Amino acid sequence: MKKVLTIHFSQSGQLTEIVDNFAAQFQDAEIDKQVVVPMESFPFPWTTPVFFDKMPETVLEKTIGLEENTYRHDRYDLIIFGYQPWFLSPSLPATALLKNEKFRTILKDTPVITLIGSRNMWLNSQESVKKLITEAGGKLVGNVALSDRSNNLVGVITILHWMLKGEKTKKWGIFPKPGVSDEDIEGVKKYGVLANDALHTNEFGHLQQKIIAKDGVRVDTNILFIEGRAKRLFLIWANLIVKKAEKGNRNFWVNAFKYYLIFALFIVSPILLLIYNILILPFTQKSVRKQKDYFQQIRLKKD
Ligand SMILES: Cc1cc2nc3c(=O)[nH]c(=O)nc-3n(C[C@H](O)[C@H](O)[C@H](O)COP(=O)(O)O)c2cc1C
Repeated sequence: MKKVLTIHFSQSGQLTEIVDNFAAQFQDAEIDKQVVVPMESFPFPWTTPVFFDKMPETVLEKTIGLEENTYRHDRYDLIIFGYQPWFLSPSLPATALLKNEKFRTILKDTPVITLIGSRNMWLNSQESVKKLITEAGGKLVGNVALSDRSNNLVGVITILHWMLKGEKTKKWGIFPKPGVSDEDIEGVKKYGVLANDALHTNEFGHLQQKIIAKDGVRVDTNILFIEGRAKRLFLIWANLIVKKAEKGNRNFWVNAFKYYLIFALFIVSPILLLIYNILILPFTQKSVRKQKDYFQQIRLKKD
């Protein structure tokens, strides 16, 4: 019988539902369902200072302590790795897992499918995940990226409501529900069916094309533009905060980053996007299409 490992971390349970719906489609396969348990617990709901305080280490992809998982087997025919981006990077538990020696041994020479449960900015984090999987000798064969389909700024407001209240509900009863929609969480089953076929035919080569054909990886032009610039700025802030923290100034600079982010998201990016869409996008359609295609695929760009 084929052996499948599913592993993920989730605070609200959103990613658990996604992974479970996907994994439920495997037939004649033994499923080892594992969860990632960080030694340091992350609050849910978050408080604003703790939420932003996680930025530097997340962006710098520092590792954190994890409870050791007890896997049923040393080798699997397929690994389903579910993760969520935090600050345009894999979440701290996700990074820690990908850097964990025991998990890296299991990853070696094994096909991996990533399942992303994001707000809408997962492009940079997936690049890091691709690198870490490749470094461990794993073989990425598929990626399903689920995200909030609402407008970017609406999504920021609703996710903050969710993260700081702990309830995936409509803010003031008028905003849309935050995060990945119930339909998309349910709809992930169709990609599970594709993965089950690939597993039993041992043919993972066309899996990603089939996932893309069923709308499993959407890349939005405006998000592509924002993510293409924002990670570099986050890295500058992360390094600055770590440096300032040595002098005991961490809280001040984390707070400064919070206000910077609000300003960048709500004031700067709408203006830049307007200029970009009117003056630049019409002349760069071909390169944008190429970039979108790259992010939908699973291959890793050579540096
Ligand atoms: C600290 C933090 C930072 C986040 N940053 C991002 C981000 O950069 N991009 C994104 O698409 N979603 C971001 N999210 C949303 C998560 O990716 C995820 O969708 C949400 O937290 C629900 O995941 P859960 O299954 O762990 O509850 C962030 C969430 C948290 C808690």
